[in-house]
Amino acid sequence: MDIKLRVWRQTGPSDKGKMVSYEVKDVSPDASFLEMLDVLNERLILEGDEPIAFDHDCREGICGMCGMMINGVAHGPLKATTTCQLHMRHFKDGDTIDVEPWRSAAFPVVRDLVVDRRAFDGIIQAGGYITAPTGAAPDAHAMPVPKADADAAFEAATCIGCGACVAACPNGSAMLFTAAKVGHLGLLPQGQPERDSRVLSMIEAHDEAGFGGCTNAGECTTVCPKGIPLTLIGRLNSDYRKALR
Ligand code: SF4
Ligand code: FES
Repeated sequence: MDIKLRVWRQTGPSDKGKMVSYEVKDVSPDASFLEMLDVLNERLILEGDEPIAFDHDCREGICGMCGMMINGVAHGPLKATTTCQLHMRHFKDGDTIDVEPWRSAAFPVVRDLVVDRRAFDGIIQAGGYITAPTGAAPDAHAMPVPKADADAAFEAATCIGCGACVAACPNGSAMLFTAAKVGHLGLLPQGQPERDSRVLSMIEAHDEAGFGGCTNAGECTTVCPKGIPLTLIGRLNSDYRKALR
């Protein structure tokens, strides 16, 4: 496949940045999107140019490091798929593909496609833990958890912290991410002692970091590679109201 890329290039946080065009020839349809960028980067390095900076780690859809706007969609055209798991066979020979970083005030661009997502760390540090002494692994079934709660907690726990929900939200809100983290612990018995303080602290950290409010646009869940549902935001709001009483 021959592809034309238009990639956001920005040398640093204070650089204005611009889209730069590249022709990438003989791309294997079986290459992942990141492997296609690797091939382009090798060429750029050989030609003495700066390679395109982008985040990645596991390349298996589990670490949450990768993520970019591909033709204006967070993580690209394939539903429930991270950028690293997107393959070139989902594009057509001759396509022009725009590639940009997450756009959000709370995620400033570091360089090219890399953004600073430390605001997420602040939300986790505010309440993403339990204080119960855990000790050795307990016996199975020592603390029974209803199956429906266990399943819902597990679903929330699949959030990989990629930030696509923020990038897609017209308000730059991180409510889906925050709701996943609050819901994951709040659904389990071990998470009950800090249930109120957790939701209050995490929402405060969310707002202080500069994320916008949720207006139920639903763009977040549409692009979420893990299918985190909007219902968790409803649950978060309910917990928040109860904690304020
Ligand atoms: S909620 Fe989904 S889109 Fe948002 S950070 Fe978690 S996995 Fe990524
Ligand atoms: S590189 Fe880990 S999820 Fe994509």
